[in-house]
Amino acid sequence: MRHLIDFGDLTRAEWEALYQRCSAIMDHPADFMDACRGRVMASLFYEPSTRTNFSFQAAMLRVGGTVFGFADPRSTSTAKGETLKDTIKMVSGYADVVVMRNPKEGAAKAASLYSNVPVINAGDGGHMHPTQTTADLTTITRLRGSVDGLSVGLCGDLKNGRTVHSLIKALAKFEGVKFYLIAPRELAVPEYIRAFMKERGLWFVEVTGLETVIPQLDVLYMTRIQRERFVDPLEYERNKGIYVLTRRKLERARQNLLVMHPLPRVDEIAIDVDDDPRAVYFEQARYGMFARMALLTDLANQERMDPGAVEIGKGPVCSNPNCITQTEHYLPPLVKQNGGVDCCAFCDAQLR
Ligand code: NCD
Repeated sequence: MRHLIDFGDLTRAEWEALYQRCSAIMDHPADFMDACRGRVMASLFYEPSTRTNFSFQAAMLRVGGTVFGFADPRSTSTAKGETLKDTIKMVSGYADVVVMRNPKEGAAKAASLYSNVPVINAGDGGHMHPTQTTADLTTITRLRGSVDGLSVGLCGDLKNGRTVHSLIKALAKFEGVKFYLIAPRELAVPEYIRAFMKERGLWFVEVTGLETVIPQLDVLYMTRIQRERFVDPLEYERNKGIYVLTRRKLERARQNLLVMHPLPRVDEIAIDVDDDPRAVYFEQARYGMFARMALLTDLANQERMDPGAVEIGKGPVCSNPNCITQTEHYLPPLVKQNGGVDCCAFCDAQLR
């Protein structure tokens, strides 16, 4: 693995190797105290974050490395009009690994084209969030023993929820997973995710009601309605508070259900659920730190590499207003296929 941009790029064997290292770290943390000694992580957070930013920092410090970065882009040269390319060229000269969160979809992929060191996507707009997925899979594997054959409910804002998109890509690598996609119609998964699921022949249903499917689930992954991604505030108003998991609703659920949430929670899980043994979201956040430790011991120890020349683009070919190519016009016109359809290689939107 050179970068971690999209969980779909990882093979199942690569994930298993990462999980083995993560398990070893959880069981014997002292053995990994110096695994990144002398290594430096740059943490570029162009968007708010608590868990991801802190857990990456804690992870790097716990494996003996050091960290610099920002959590507010207004304090950087981006505010003076510097391009992402220039920021990455410079930062990748100072650090051994770059962790980046950015509000634009495809930003991490764009950064990886110019970086001399591995880039880790810590969230790119409403697109992907693969390191949250490492937390999610670690939680499921550690608490259920295996991911194969589970029935997984994904509930909430499946359109804008990047953690869900990455998790679907990851769960597709396992055998016999059943997907219950629970969302209002206007917040259903994006077309590229649906096309991906169909192409892979995955078992999935799309429903609007939470209560009817709860009894079938092994994992219920709740998500927040992503207010900051809505262009139309009325659409947010229509959908906020639409799903609220309560202790009463859990009465019909399996005894070994895992209730997960990437956090932050707004109101989609009532506080009375927190003390139910099936609620594992705070443990999930801690597992995320261990998974990031495992990831950093691999990526921060790689040799620097010249990324080579990149074709200079002539402006966006993709019409997604949130795509990184809309603001960084020099990016090359990269295309990939999703389910036989031409899509933007940065944000996955279909090209028309
Ligand atoms: C998620 C994110 O940033 O996408 N948070 C996280 O990283 N744990 C989920 C969210 O913000 O709703």
